[in-house]
Amino acid sequence: MKASKKVLVIHGPNLNLLGEREPGVYGDQSFENVNKSIIEKAEKLNVECEIFQSNHEGEIIDKLHSARHIFDGIVINAGAYTHYSYAIRDAISAIKIPCIEVHISNVFAREEFRSKSVIAPVCIGSICGFGIESYILALQVLSNR
Ligand code: DQA
Repeated sequence: MKASKKVLVIHGPNLNLLGEREPGVYGDQSFENVNKSIIEKAEKLNVECEIFQSNHEGEIIDKLHSARHIFDGIVINAGAYTHYSYAIRDAISAIKIPCIEVHISNVFAREEFRSKSVIAPVCIGSICGFGIESYILALQVLSNR
C-alpha cells in the first residue's frame, strides 16, 4: 500500500545521547530504540517517515529547507535550540510545512529558560512531557491531517 503521508522527524542537539543522557529526565531508551518505535508507529499509521538528527543549527536549517516539496509534515524536537534559535524559527516559518514541536520532558516543570519556545509560534502545535510518546502523538496528529 502506498504511504499516504511523508513525515520528517528532526532530533536536535544532544538527543543522539538518549538512553545515556539524564535518564531520570529523558528515560533510559536508547536513541536507536526511540527511532525504532517511531518507525514502527509510522508504519502502523501508513506514514513514510524519515528521521534526522544533528547537533548543529545550520544542518537542521539545511534539512528543513530540503524538506520543501517532499514532506507533508515535520515533527521537531529542537532540543535547547527551541529556547533561542530565531534561525530555526525563521526556517520553519519559511518552508510552510505543518510542523509540530515536541519535547520528551515537561519543559514547563523545569528551569525557567525552558518555558520559553521561540519556535512554538510558527508550529501548528506543541506536545511535551510524555516521554517518547510525544513523538508518537505528533505522528498521529500529522497522519490525520
Ligand atoms: C528537550 C527539552 C530541552 O529543554 C532540552 O534542551 C533538550 C531536550 C526535551 O525533549 O525534553 O535537549 O527538548
